[in-house]
Amino acid sequence: MIQTASIGQRLTLLLAGVAAALSVLSWGMVTSLAAQAAARTQDNVLAASATTIAETLRSEQGEVRLELPYAAFAMLGAISEDRVFYRVIAADEVLTGYDDLPAPATSEIGQVVFDTGQYRGAEIRMSSVTRLVLAGMERVAVTVSVAQTRDGVDAVTSDISRLAGLLSVAFFFVAVALSAIAARLSLRPLNLIAASVSRRGPSDLRPLLRAAPADLAPLLDALNRLMERLRLSIRRSEDFIAEAAHRVRTPLATVRTQAEIALRTVSDEAEKERLRRIIRAVDESARSAGQLLDHATVAYRVEDLARDRLDLSDLARQTAAALEPTAAMRDIQFTLDLTPAPIRGDAVLLDSAIRNVLDNAIKYSPEDTTVSLQIVLDAAQARLRVRDQGTGLGDGPMDVLTERFRRGGNVAGVVGSGLGLTIAAEVLRAHGGRLELENCENGSGACVSLVLPLV
Ligand SMILES: Nc1ncnc2c1ncn2[C@@H]1O[C@H](COP(=O)(O)OP(=O)(O)OP(=O)(O)O)[C@@H](O)[C@H]1O
Ligand SMILES: [Mg+2]
Repeated sequence: MIQTASIGQRLTLLLAGVAAALSVLSWGMVTSLAAQAAARTQDNVLAASATTIAETLRSEQGEVRLELPYAAFAMLGAISEDRVFYRVIAADEVLTGYDDLPAPATSEIGQVVFDTGQYRGAEIRMSSVTRLVLAGMERVAVTVSVAQTRDGVDAVTSDISRLAGLLSVAFFFVAVALSAIAARLSLRPLNLIAASVSRRGPSDLRPLLRAAPADLAPLLDALNRLMERLRLSIRRSEDFIAEAAHRVRTPLATVRTQAEIALRTVSDEAEKERLRRIIRAVDESARSAGQLLDHATVAYRVEDLARDRLDLSDLARQTAAALEPTAAMRDIQFTLDLTPAPIRGDAVLLDSAIRNVLDNAIKYSPEDTTVSLQIVLDAAQARLRVRDQGTGLGDGPMDVLTERFRRGGNVAGVVGSGLGLTIAAEVLRAHGGRLELENCENGSGACVSLVLPLV
């Protein structure tokens, strides 16, 4: 599977990108607003100062006079430590102040104008107001200019900008953390669906019926349709196998009968041997066909498992009774040590599981031995233990013996298809139980346990 970056990571990255852009934007906005506000404050104070000075203008004996009010400069001192300059011009002549201050922009009488410029190596902001003063018989235009350097304004702006920068960085980190949480939360439904699919057993193809957000409905639908198609196709192949096995059995029986008859009539030993081999091959094929049919039945019934109240001891007793004649042919005796064990399940399937285990015990044991069936109960489980006195299950891994068509190394001449334990294991798994394979403690024979939950 080719893996690309996870949706969660992408979402987090995308949201983090958005958060970063917003952080930079808000930092820029705060900085520019702070610069504007500081400049406007300075302008207001400069205007008030120029107007206050202009208001003290009067004429005395035909000359323009003024008294510089202390308050006019105190105002400016209050906002920053910046240097302050002023100048008063009456009829183009400097009355008082710094005569090299830059000339103000021309303005209408009574209106405050602002200029920005360089003065004595620093940037200054200057406000000017012009008033008409009656001096003798003449009206003289008097312009009052008040200027201040801008260090204070710049300092305020950069202070606020730094603070806004810190806040933006903090905002960014909080936003990234929240984005990661949001991404995880929004992917939760998807993860829940994935978890519920992966929790399922290998043969569980029922549709997923969990509530999911609308966005996931198409995915869920597609998944369910896929599972339905898979279920149908598996069922079709099971059908086919069952049908094929069924059709093969009758002609096989005919071949076997004919071969048996032929065996009795021929006298040539080589020919007899050939016929015996034919009979054996037919037996193998018939056994395989039968087991395949049984396996298909298991696959069907497991899909819609019956949950009848049953007694495991009854089932074991009945199955053992049914196999008694087969066992008797090899002088094998069953010993039963059964206690009632209430369970729930499908009698046909459980019978098939027990039959396959008993069949093995008979097949792989020497003649004239005993196969014991014992039921042991604990708090939650019933265990039907089948022991024989045969060769045992060998030293290799035992789980593989439940694989399809898997036969052990000890089969030497015993007819079989390798499906018996597969069937038993599948039946038990469908019932919420398990098949346990081990060699008997005393060192000889196999000990196979069918474990089922009690009700
Ligand atoms: N009681 C037993 N004693 C010794 N070996 C066993 C026993 N039961 C199972 N085995 C081993 O496990 C293998 C798998 O058993 P399984 O029943 O699945 O297949 P099989 O008996 O060979 O064929 P069939 O499908 O006809 O039962 C056997 O081939 C055999 O080697
Ligand atoms: Mg078997």
